[in-house]
Amino acid sequence: MREPDAPARPHVSVVALRAAAYAYEDGPTVLSGLDFDVVDGRALALLGRNGSGKTTLMRLLSGGLRPAEGSLTLDGTPVTYDRKGLTRLRTTVQLVVQDPDDQLFAASVEQDVSFGPLNLGLPDPEVRARVAEALAALDITPLADRPTHLLSYGQRKRTAIAGAVAMRPRVLVLDEPTAGLDPDGQERLLDTLQGLRDAGTTVVMATHDVDLALRWADDAALLTPSGVRTGPAAEILARRDLLDQAGLHLPWGIAVGELLRAHGLPTGTTEGPRTAEELAALVARPASGADDV
Ligand SMILES: Nc1ncnc2c1ncn2[C@@H]1O[C@H](COP(=O)(O)OP(=O)(O)OP(=O)(O)O)[C@@H](O)[C@H]1O
Ligand SMILES: [Mg+2]
Repeated sequence: MREPDAPARPHVSVVALRAAAYAYEDGPTVLSGLDFDVVDGRALALLGRNGSGKTTLMRLLSGGLRPAEGSLTLDGTPVTYDRKGLTRLRTTVQLVVQDPDDQLFAASVEQDVSFGPLNLGLPDPEVRARVAEALAALDITPLADRPTHLLSYGQRKRTAIAGAVAMRPRVLVLDEPTAGLDPDGQERLLDTLQGLRDAGTTVVMATHDVDLALRWADDAALLTPSGVRTGPAAEILARRDLLDQAGLHLPWGIAVGELLRAHGLPTGTTEGPRTAEELAALVARPASGADDV
């Protein structure tokens, strides 16, 4: 098996932190000696216990915070934290914060989503086209004229994401985007993110949901007290030692896969069944399927 945190050679990083450290004023060091890559075209899930530094890391990647030590690079070039450098970064990387109320401020949905493109100085037709595209992508076109303070929580989350999508970033960084959404809302958001991925957007998502991470992500990064461990999601999320350090449980599919294997039953893929339907299909198979293991 490939060492999970070995560098993925053919992959190209869009943004990367090198030997980065960060401490809040009067606070302890949150991250130190951190090497972290956001690889072009890969979907990355960022996991770790409360207070492990996920939000801090995302703010470092999107330029809201500046590393106290080390550097952030964009396409291999160090980011400069002047106006020009930050504009270059923010047109590439867009962060959607966890609480939509920290992000939304305009009177209506349309005004909020158009704020970023207008701020880029784009011509009106271009702004309108981007806003229409972002509203459609997030399935909130009928809400365009609604006052933001009258939206439900899930609608506010979608509006906040639409604001970032309207910037057409190469990298979309989402801080716990599914938290607080109902199951149908979560599924619809995952479909939306799949559409953005298919269109070429690199997506980074912080989540506490290991099952969602396994199902959705190409790669997983676990923030543990001994540092960040990154690799293919199916490998990283099968590492009990790392999951323990990060205060997380084994994903359901991997746990069921282990159980099936222990009983000499087929497991399908190495990560095991991902849904109850996949499990039902496996156990309905004739016993000769055990050869698949
Ligand atoms: N503005 C701040 N000032 C001082 N300390 C802060 C600030 N923001 C975060 N911290 C501290 O930094 C550490 C990392 O916080 P961070 O918000 O990055 O964690 P997290 O992994 O996103 O947690 P959660 O899962 O609860 O969202 C925590 O110990 C937190 O208390
Ligand atoms: Mg957080």
